[in-house]
Formats: sequence, structure tokens, C-alpha cells
Amino acid sequence: MRDLRHRIAKAAFVRHTGGSMNKRFFITTAIDYVNGQPHLGHAYEKIVADVIARSRRSLGQEVFFLTGLDEHGQKVQQAAIAEGKTPQAYCDQLAADWKAFAKKLELTNDDFVRTTEPRHKEFVQAILARLHAAGQFYKETYKGFYSTKEETFLTDKDRLPDGTFDPAYGEVIELEESNYWFKLRAQQQWLIDYLEANPTFVQPDYRRNEVLGFLKNSTLEDLCITRPAARLNWGIPLPFDKDFVTYVWFDALVNYISIPAAHGDATVLATSNSELRTPNSEFELWPADIHVIGKDILKFHAVFWPIMLKAMGLPLPKQILVHGWWQKEGAKISKSTGNIVDPIAVIDEWGLDAFRFYVLRELDIGPDGNWTDAGFRARYQAELANGLGNLVNRSLSMLKRYRNGLVPAKHDELAAAAAKAADETHALLKLNQLQAALQSIWGLVTRANQYVDQTRPFSLAKDPAQAKRLDEVLYNLVETCRVLAVLLWPFLPDTATKIYAQLGLTGTPDKFSEATWGGLPPGHPIGEPAPLFPRKDSPQP
Ligand code: MSP
Repeated sequence: MRDLRHRIAKAAFVRHTGGSMNKRFFITTAIDYVNGQPHLGHAYEKIVADVIARSRRSLGQEVFFLTGLDEHGQKVQQAAIAEGKTPQAYCDQLAADWKAFAKKLELTNDDFVRTTEPRHKEFVQAILARLHAAGQFYKETYKGFYSTKEETFLTDKDRLPDGTFDPAYGEVIELEESNYWFKLRAQQQWLIDYLEANPTFVQPDYRRNEVLGFLKNSTLEDLCITRPAARLNWGIPLPFDKDFVTYVWFDALVNYISIPAAHGDATVLATSNSELRTPNSEFELWPADIHVIGKDILKFHAVFWPIMLKAMGLPLPKQILVHGWWQKEGAKISKSTGNIVDPIAVIDEWGLDAFRFYVLRELDIGPDGNWTDAGFRARYQAELANGLGNLVNRSLSMLKRYRNGLVPAKHDELAAAAAKAADETHALLKLNQLQAALQSIWGLVTRANQYVDQTRPFSLAKDPAQAKRLDEVLYNLVETCRVLAVLLWPFLPDTATKIYAQLGLTGTPDKFSEATWGGLPPGHPIGEPAPLFPRKDSPQP
């Protein structure tokens, strides 16, 4: 009976929301090529996704956050050969560094995909077999231009006005070879209609317009989804023709569904037409809620991927969230010129949260950004050390000194300011507006620091007749610090946790509902204050 009631309630919920109760918020990042060490651009994207994942969890949603590595293709094969290693040994070695990097960034990813894993490869093959059987591919000989660097076929349309190809394509050779092609052309109008009917599918808007402009002004070519094994063998073999391996982008995009399949997601398993896994009805991921990607790989995600999914009979992801590219000191980040930001070095010197703060506060999700060492130091000093750090340190130190570290009776002079910051942050997090959310949170930091200057608790402490007023001021300050810890958790998890510990609170401030005013009970003993962001005199970040 109880079971039946549960099922009815669940069915009603599903009807009402158009989804299922077990559907998790599924967020992914691009999977990075494993042919080098992680840099600022990779770190930024993963931090953006992590903040969104953490904030959704804090808001009470069940989340699945996926990141990982793209390990096949020519670039990896060449890099391995250059180091005298087998591609697999090369990938295994680098994968260890990249996984350590994810830990260093304190990413809360629930899985880490490597495209050389059997669980991914077998799913890619199942999809290929299914699409082949459905007549989605055809084999054809192509004669034309090919960029080995970008592993892509080029046509005359790709030529610059002066007739040459963009230097980004590297050496362009003439090639004649047989391959399998995936039918895209017939889907062009369908995709235009979909993008027009779903304005939030690609965000920000100017990226959506870019895709629409491309689709409306050019004819979509079919996609070559194989490479001859004789030329490139570091790829997933085609299940129906051993002379070919899968094109690296077809392989890589499928990670967004191969991992749900490995966890038993019934929707994606239904499309693979195979007995790979038993579906787990408690674990629903697809469709993804957000794919976080950089602007350079928009076409793959907003054109090829939707058409692949349609051919598989799968729903499209809800949103492709496109970020811009970082430069350093106004120039392209480039290993060859030495113009790089090494995230690990910055984190080791300044702390993870200083790094996370700078990239999130400096750059909104969308436009390009410019890392400057001076800008990094300025934000560290003004917003972290003098802003947040100073507020927490002086609030807690005064409570220790004047009230022996015991929280006074509740008072609500800053409650409205805290509620405003919490409401704004809540709304902005739902919209993935991370930079604006930080601005709102810092509005509260600034307000509380002004409050100290206006109420002058250090003067109140000298006058016994002002004892009640001092209690009020101190309550407002420490309670604001507590609310700030909760608001900051998705962005600066270490700092938020330290603020909680210094307030003598156990656990982590990872539930947004606790950002409500009045959580600190009177008489509660706080812990030991310690500077959150030590002053730095070092010249370089
Ligand atoms: N392997 C493909 C993605 C496959 S996703 C199914 C790839 N890898 S990548 O290593 O070149 O890039 C990974 C991500 O890092 C991309 O989203 C890319 O835009 C991002 N960035 C690489 N350099 C960047 C900057 N300088 N700045 C910001 N992000 C940049 O593409």
C-alpha cells in the first residue's frame, strides 16, 4: 500500500515537472587533450563547473559532475612517439598528473572519464554499430585538403581571403582516402529551428547567434567519422570495419553519454541496443543540464553533437554554456613563448581560494579574459586580505577580547543586508552568473566593514554603559561572518570551511538554507581567529 502511494506520488511529480524524481543535475566539462600539462584555461573551465556543481548541491539538488581526459587521436600518438613511449603508457602517465590537478583544484567531480577506458570504448562501439545499422553512415573516397595538426578536412571555403589556410591549421596536405561519413546535411533546418525555439540552449546569447549565423549562411558538410587505421591507429576501432578507427571528436563527445551508461542511466542505455549494463532506475543523468565548454569548440557541441544525439534518438542537453579564452598580460597563452600562467605555482604560493577567486571574479562566463599579475595581487590585497579577511579577523578577535569568545544575544541590524545578499546570490547561482554573485557577496563584506567603522566597537568597549550596544554590534558581525561562509562555500570552499571552524561550528557550510539570519545561538563559544589571507610582499604571483 505504502509502495503504491509512493508510486502514485512519484508519477504525479513526474507529470508535473516533466522529469523524474531521480534525475540528477548533470554537469560536464570539456575533456582535455592529454598531450601536455594543464594550464590556466583548463583550470578556469573546471573551476567554473565545480562552482556550479557545488552551488546546486548547496541549493539541495542531487548533482553529478563529470570531467576527464580525451586520450585518442593523432596529437597524442605523435606526442607519445616523440617521447619513445606507447600511447597508452604515455596517457597513463599524464592522466595521473591531470587527476592530481583535479584534486589540487578541489574539484568535486563524481567521476573522471578517460576515453581509453573499456567502459567508454565499448559504448562508443555500441553507438557506432547502432547508427551504422540505421543507415546513418556512408563510405566514400575523399580527395582534398587535410590539416594534420587539427585532424580535420578542409575545403576551399576554409581559405583566407588571400587563398592560404589559417596558420592555426598547421601544415595542410592534399589527401585521397576512403572514410565513413555521418549524414549531417539533412539536419541543418531542424537544428536552426531547434536553436530558434530554445533560446537558452546555447548561452550566452552572442554564442547562440554565432551558431545560428553559421548554420544560416553556409551549407553543412557531412562529418567524416573515421580515420584509416593504416594512417592513425590510436583510436577506437570501428566495430564493423577493422580498417578504420573512430574520429577523435566523435569518440570524445560520446563521453557525455558513455559515463551515464556505465552508471546505468536507462535513457542512454536504451539507445545503444546492447546488453552492456543493467539499467539502474535510481540513477538518471541524461539529458545533461549543462555542458561547460570554451568558445573554440562550440561548433562540435552546438552542431555535431545535437545531430549525433538526434540520430541516436536521445534528447539534447539542456544547455551549452560557453566561456571565453584567457590571455596573459594581453597576449596569447603559449608554451613556446613562455607566456603561461602555471596554476599549480600560483596555488602553491597564494592558496587555492585566491586562485579560484581571481578567475571567477575577474571574468564573467562568456567574454575573453586577461590575467595580469598586478591585477591578481590587487584583488588579493583589496578584496581578500583587506575585505573579507579583515572583516572575519577583526569580528572574531573582538568577540574573543571583549566577550571571551561567547556569542551575545541575537540582534538583527545587518539581517536585511545579509538577506539581500543571500537572495541575490541564490537567484544569480540559478542563472550561473558566478561573477555577479561574487559582487553581491562582496556587497555584504563591504557593508559589514563599514558597519565596524560606523559603530566603532573598540570605542564602545571602553565604556561600560555601552555594553549592550557592544553585544548588538558583535552579534551582527559574527552572524554576518557565518552567513558569508555559507554564501562563499561554492566559490571558496577552504575559506568558507575555515570561517566555520573559527566560529566554532562543526561541519561544512554547504547548505544554502543555512544562510538565514540568526543561526548563531547566544552563548555559543567561537574557536580561534587566524588570518584567512596572510599579507604577501612577494612581487610575483
Ligand atoms: N579534447 C577537446 C575537447 C573534447 S570535449 C568532448 C579539447 N581539449 S583542449 O584540451 O584543447 O581544451 C579543453 C578545454 O579547455 C576547452 O573547452 C577549451 O576551450 C579550454 N581552453 C583551452 N585553452 C584555453 C584558454 N586559454 N582559456 C580558456 N579556456 C581554454 O578541446
